[in-house]
Amino acid sequence: MRRFTLPALLLVGATLSAGDPAKDLPKFQGDLQKYWMDACARCHGVNGNGRDNNGKPLPDAGFDFTDSRKANKKKDSDWVKVTMQGKDKMPAFKDKMTEADAQKMLTEIVRKFAAKR
Ligand code: HEC
Repeated sequence: MRRFTLPALLLVGATLSAGDPAKDLPKFQGDLQKYWMDACARCHGVNGNGRDNNGKPLPDAGFDFTDSRKANKKKDSDWVKVTMQGKDKMPAFKDKMTEADAQKMLTEIVRKFAAKR
């Protein structure tokens, strides 16, 4: 039985953190792509479409960044603000990254989700 203990604990840990997607958000370390995967994809999806790897809608997505028609109506300045200050279920990132980093994240990652479709 003993050898099952560690995997069981890991499973419990994974289940718990999946229950609160805003938990344990890391600080930005300079790699935008990595940060999207570590801090944003859990809610917004790897591809920004608010879906998990099986195409299932994520519960806390809030916005489909691949929808260029909707995304094009949004201003960078507003998006930076939401990223810094949070909104409803969207956590504030002002303690995790600077406003300049957030702007870079939008230009280099978030805006490109819409361009790809
Ligand atoms: C805990 C889940 C969660 C995480 C993590 C998260 N978001 Fe969000 N995000 C949301 C939700 C929910 C909304 C919609 C908020 C609303 O309008 O009510 C949102 C909205 C946004 C918006 C505004 C979209 C609009 O409605 O115009 C931007 C931009 C955004 N997120 C960027 C990011 C970035 C960048 C990261 C990572 C640094 C991130 N989010 C991490 C849940 C999350």
